[in-house]
Amino acid sequence: MQVASMGKLTAVCVTIILGGVTASQWPAIEQASKYNHPETVSALLKAGVNKDMQNGHGWTAMHVASKFGSTDVITTLIEHGANVTIPTNSGRTPIFAATWWGHINIVQLLINANASISHVDNKGETALHIAAKWNRVDIARLLLQKGAESKKQNIWGMTPADVARNEGYDQLANSIDSFTLTTAYTTSTFTASTPKP
Ligand SMILES: *[C@@H]1O[C@H](CO)[C@@H](O)[C@H](O)[C@H]1NC(C)=O
Ligand SMILES: *[C@@H]1O[C@H](CO)[C@@H](O)[C@H](O)[C@H]1NC(C)=O
Repeated sequence: MQVASMGKLTAVCVTIILGGVTASQWPAIEQASKYNHPETVSALLKAGVNKDMQNGHGWTAMHVASKFGSTDVITTLIEHGANVTIPTNSGRTPIFAATWWGHINIVQLLINANASISHVDNKGETALHIAAKWNRVDIARLLLQKGAESKKQNIWGMTPADVARNEGYDQLANSIDSFTLTTAYTTSTFTASTPKP
């Protein structure tokens, strides 16, 4: 299975590099991103494939790599200047995919590359809502530490903590709430004790 798809991948890539067949470009970069082949991605980009190419659902190579945890491809795409905040047709940037599938290292790479943590999808949800939905505790903490808005409501009026509670993740819901309290407390303490210049 793995060998078969690798063979197919090579064939598609050779077709592109030699022949420049437009219709094959998405499958090639998609496969290379899925199976974490950074050299293939580099070769495709050098051969003229658009680094920000989107499929019919609005997915980019960055979304695919974010979903499948292809860290090396993410690094390569970022080095090539690929855009880290392109939304899919449902309004979701790669950080949503990395959060959904639980790849905290990729969430971190995307944040380092200036991906927005406050991006809102077509349902009014942020990456923190997604972390709440799938009980991604570490990612939720990271997003909150980076300043994610914890009280943002989706189109149904639900905050990330509401979503976590709705899915039965009470502990995460409480953590999100208490993080909010801690932050508010810390901020006011900090402000109160900061000497005036
Ligand atoms: C990335 O793509 C988004 C959505 O198309 C766009 O708004 C943004 O300006 C782009 N960022 C860069 C750095 O080109
Ligand atoms: C992120 O933003 C900082 C500050 O604007 C900039 O120096 C840095 O080059 C950016 N990183 C990327 C990968 O765009």
